[in-house]
Amino acid sequence: MRSVGLISIQDLMQQLRKLDSTVFNETETLRRLLQHNPVDVESLAPYLTWDRQHYTRNLIDRTPLYELMAICWEVGQASSVHNHRDQNCWMAVPMGRLRVENLHLVRQDLERGTCHLEPLNTLEMSLAEPCAVNPADPVHRVINPREFNQRAVSLHVYSRPFDTCVVYSPEQGTCGEIKLHFNTECGKPK
Ligand code: SIN
Repeated sequence: MRSVGLISIQDLMQQLRKLDSTVFNETETLRRLLQHNPVDVESLAPYLTWDRQHYTRNLIDRTPLYELMAICWEVGQASSVHNHRDQNCWMAVPMGRLRVENLHLVRQDLERGTCHLEPLNTLEMSLAEPCAVNPADPVHRVINPREFNQRAVSLHVYSRPFDTCVVYSPEQGTCGEIKLHFNTECGKPK
């Protein structure tokens, strides 16, 4: 039986598919929709895969407007510091808790592979607290800190879809473009 107040991932997919394209051009409407419709992690079972070496990216749905994916984080796993190719991004956390570290990109020279970033702020995401990436300062990293001591699952909506991004090393002042891959697509291994 589904816990009170939770919806299934299928219900969320249906709601997303009905949205007008203009919703994806700003961040607040969809952030609120995610906050008012927390997803039951049980319904995500076909999409969840785990890897002790790296967090996994699992595509759930893709339209010309957006991609919806589940990311599975073992304890201690973290993303690189990265951007989102000037696309909007929303994150919700049906299981566990995750920390987001936002950074301000002072400058970057992609051809030379150099950059300078400064820490901006840190926030925590949970079932009750989804977030939208700030389009004005989109560079961030997501962490499942060891002290949280539990696996986490996040849902990400990227609009429009993108398959490359820039990753940064704030410590070394370097950056470079990488290709993004999925571990599974619609519940099937890639
Ligand atoms: C990813 O898409 O691989 C990283 C998730 C994020 O931090 O947005």
